[in-house]
Amino acid sequence: MHLHKYEKNWLIFGIVALILFLSVVGVSAFHQGHTPSGGHMKIDPEKVNETAPFDNPGLYQREDGTYEVIMTAKAFGYDPGKVQVPAGKEITFTATSEDVVHSFSIVKTNVNMMVVPGEINHKKHTFDEPGTYLVVCNEYCGSGHHFMSTEIEVIE
Ligand code: CUA
Repeated sequence: MHLHKYEKNWLIFGIVALILFLSVVGVSAFHQGHTPSGGHMKIDPEKVNETAPFDNPGLYQREDGTYEVIMTAKAFGYDPGKVQVPAGKEITFTATSEDVVHSFSIVKTNVNMMVVPGEINHKKHTFDEPGTYLVVCNEYCGSGHHFMSTEIEVIE
């Protein structure tokens, strides 16, 4: 009788532990699904078009003389589609995705930034030479991945 009660307590303990374990696994899976790479959600990917500064993508000059390009990525392109920036000035590229993980990779530079839905990603670059620079997506994002590109025109 005594032994039976002892086993029953352990059985209850086992069930409670199992439920706790499953809920912890479930909760972490849920969080991973909604905040990729474990980062904090900074923007609602469904509301990118309504959320500043992404409601108005393009080139901005900051008060300190540097520039910022606000850019959104989605399957399978970038907005703005083409942007003009000045040579010899520090440009901060600020990007987010409206759907899946893309990248913002400027060919022949060291700019290779992941663009993650729910996150706002930044990368600084100064173009020394004027010219046309190709931007491509280096993260596989679906059937149109290989065609996902845009251009940056660097002017004097
Ligand atoms: Cu976007 Cu690959």
